[in-house]
Amino acid sequence: MTDVQTERDVVDVLMTDHHEVEAIFVELESRQGTPEHRRQLADVVIAELVRHAVAEEVHVYPAARKALPDGDKLAEHEIAEHSDAERTMKELESVDPSDPRFDELLATLTATIRHHVRDEENDLFPRLRAACAREELVELAGKGGGGEEVGADPAAPGRAGPPAGEQAARPGRRPGRPDPRRAQRPAHLDAGAAREVLTTGRGGHAPGTGGVAAAVCQGV
Ligand SMILES: [Fe+2]
Repeated sequence: MTDVQTERDVVDVLMTDHHEVEAIFVELESRQGTPEHRRQLADVVIAELVRHAVAEEVHVYPAARKALPDGDKLAEHEIAEHSDAERTMKELESVDPSDPRFDELLATLTATIRHHVRDEENDLFPRLRAACAREELVELAGKGGGGEEVGADPAAPGRAGPPAGEQAARPGRRPGRPDPRRAQRPAHLDAGAAREVLTTGRGGHAPGTGGVAAAVCQGV
């Protein structure tokens, strides 16, 4: 039986995703490492963001629509931002890191996601916790509102929620090297799959789900 007092809820899990992605952005912004390494990091962050967006669009925003009086407006705002990020990621995935456009797109994506994180952590998440029963938010975490249940290594970076700045200095992880534990994502969440999502395009946004989810989450 789940102990709802000690289990992480969906907000805990999604905030850990935010920390993990921020750590990769910081590493990319350092402009260290070979072009191949930076390509790998970009692919990882794209895969992480696609997975995160699907989790939010399928499990979290519907909960917000139900629980919050302005939930529909909030959800549509966040989904629109996911779409902005997706367009940037689609372009980023085909630009060589030696091309100046790579850093321009990366800066755009980083700004979009940092805005998304501020929106959610300062507004949506606290309001969701205030409006929803803890049991419901813990259950959402187990349904796919986060990373663990999709096969991520529980010891992977960010899973224990350390600040982003500590992740780059994690023992055993050499600066400038991609963390091989990130490669343990299941196939539908890895960088290749993310690239496929971004290159195959997407349909319109159905009410209640978003574009990223609409593109990839059939059966989730
Ligand atoms: Fe988020």
